[in-house]
Amino acid sequence: MKHCWSWIDKRSFSFNHATDCAANFVNNKTQKNRKNADSLINRVNLIMNSFSTNKIVVIGAGNVGQAIAYTLMIRHQVSDIVIIDRQIERSKSSAKDIAHATGFFTQIPVRAGGYDECRDADLIIMTAGINRKPGQSRLDLARTNVDIVTGISENIMKYNPDPLILVVTNPVDIVTAAVLKITGADKNKIFGSGTILDTARFRFIVSDILKLGVTDVSGFVIGEHGDSHVPIWSNVHIGDLALSEYEKQFATPIDKNQIEEYIKKAGADIIAGKGATFYGIAMAVARIVENFINDKHGIMPLSHKLGEEFGDWAGAVISMPCVIGRSGIEKTIMPSMSDEERKKMDRSVNIIKKMQKELGL
Ligand SMILES: NC(=O)c1ccc[n+]([C@@H]2O[C@H](COP(=O)([O-])OP(=O)(O)OC[C@H]3O[C@@H](n4cnc5c(N)ncnc54)[C@H](O)[C@@H]3O)[C@@H](O)[C@H]2O)c1
Repeated sequence: MKHCWSWIDKRSFSFNHATDCAANFVNNKTQKNRKNADSLINRVNLIMNSFSTNKIVVIGAGNVGQAIAYTLMIRHQVSDIVIIDRQIERSKSSAKDIAHATGFFTQIPVRAGGYDECRDADLIIMTAGINRKPGQSRLDLARTNVDIVTGISENIMKYNPDPLILVVTNPVDIVTAAVLKITGADKNKIFGSGTILDTARFRFIVSDILKLGVTDVSGFVIGEHGDSHVPIWSNVHIGDLALSEYEKQFATPIDKNQIEEYIKKAGADIIAGKGATFYGIAMAVARIVENFINDKHGIMPLSHKLGEEFGDWAGAVISMPCVIGRSGIEKTIMPSMSDEERKKMDRSVNIIKKMQKELGL
């Protein structure tokens, strides 16, 4: 134990060192004590985050912006959360409501503010925009939200000419492309939540059907955050067993079409039932923030501009697995794919590139 806490006494606030200590502690323990040791890691995270200063600005105090602010607060992930909205009363009330929830445990300031708060923000999360109206085309929605984020990006740049921005506003790939163009920032610094939510839904439904723990299902959905997204079935693993092997071993072939339909319709189904989706995306964003703030170099399928090494796909702002750390997107990973999956990805890239072209992005 003493070893684990020595870094605190010395005030050497290296997050990685702290979590490594906790992880070593976990690995050295018997299964019986594993639970206690796991909770030690969580406590180390809490303590480390309370020593470091990480300011997050959330733009848009709607369903999604509020859920993100609340999730970051409740997970103690950052030290300062500011909410900005063009409806000032809405941002103030949202911040107040979330701040009141801190009354029962360690305080993390959650407040409303103006664009000057972007000056020293470590990360800006863009959720402002409108939701798609019935009968509205995707391109129309894209035009409206690109207009909205253009104004917002110009405001950000007045105070922070070198921002790191995570885009959530839909259509997320196109809006990310717009923010990248308007800010003129390095392509690793502007990224969208992309297919991380589709991936979460994918892992959820596969684990639900197979009656397995969700964290034992790995695999990515890549491409457009939308109808043309591509689940990479050929790379799905259950534990460390390829899905095809698992299906053989337990004679449980799964209906891939049914799963693809589920993830395609998941967002629309939720919106039909309750008007909006926000908890899933809020937790997905919290995981992205965790990788960013703690420089974890985790691999996630995020929307970002593909470089020249991707040949015909270069220039598309679309989701591919990438490594995310404190500097943003560190590298993009080309997953192994079947020929059919590659063709589907070609189609998804073409859809995004066409829309980027139509909007001059
Ligand atoms: N990427 C994803 O996986 C994902 C998931 C869910 C929702 N979304 C998207 O997130 C966005 C927000 O959804 P929501 O449900 O929170 O919508 P909402 O209507 O509840 O909230 C939008 C907020 O943006 C604010 N806003 C609009 N224009 C603004 C401007 N110019 N400056 C500052 N604030 C402005 C509005 O006042 C409102 O408070 C939508 O585009 C939605 O499609 C994305």
